[in-house]
Amino acid sequence: MLVEQKQLEKFRAWFDDYVAGFYGDDDYVNANLKMKQQHTHRTRSEMQYLAQEIGLSDNQKQVADAIALFHDVGRFEQFTIYGTYNDARSTNHCVLGLKVLDRAKVLENLDPTERQCIAGAIEYHGRRELPKDLDGESLLFAKLIRDADKLDVFYTVTEYYRQYRDNGEQFMLELEFPDEPGYSAKVVEGVLQGRLIDYTQLRTLNDAKLIQLGWVYDVNFPATLKRIRQRRFLEKLLEFLPRTPDIEKVKDKIFEYVAARLSRERELL
Ligand SMILES: [Fe+2]
Repeated sequence: MLVEQKQLEKFRAWFDDYVAGFYGDDDYVNANLKMKQQHTHRTRSEMQYLAQEIGLSDNQKQVADAIALFHDVGRFEQFTIYGTYNDARSTNHCVLGLKVLDRAKVLENLDPTERQCIAGAIEYHGRRELPKDLDGESLLFAKLIRDADKLDVFYTVTEYYRQYRDNGEQFMLELEFPDEPGYSAKVVEGVLQGRLIDYTQLRTLNDAKLIQLGWVYDVNFPATLKRIRQRRFLEKLLEFLPRTPDIEKVKDKIFEYVAARLSRERELL
């Protein structure tokens, strides 16, 4: 892997410049763009944490950083054109991100294997599941960005659900789903069975929160689970769901899973 420090600095400068070009007069659009820009930088920090915990080499850390920096680069054009971050209602933001990088020839100077590895990690980060044929570093980086991204999405959504609850009038961000009291039985069932749920099945904001709880099954590294527990993301998410017997069951199931997996990891050490 050959991403060097200097190269990374160029990537960062390009990214900031690129993103700056999207801000305009519309406060709502600006607020949503800013949210993704901040998400990007926090995802980089989560990636650095994981890279350290997992013991990546310096060079691998730089590749991981570049992936985190670019993973949502498609979001800015997506929101500007379609006015939503909902892929099902607009376009696949991961694929759009690759087009953006391609158009600007950002990855041009990297060697082809490395470019492929970065592009793959970006392309697959939003998929329900990773393709089965990935291996080696392609697989490692694809797994890492999915975990780093989830860690920051946990932070972002719990923060925004709170702002929306406490100060809904002034809330400036897009809610991708209607905030209705109910949730879909299918989504509850999926989370209880530990299945990964298709995003197209989501109907309400509560469904989205349930899916986010179910992400724990899709976590790749124990360091990610440790972080989720440390920062109490699951407890925080649960605060924004109704207290029904269904949700209680989901809660028990999720916490059992996390505890069992962490204790299994400890035994392996
Ligand atoms: Fe993304």
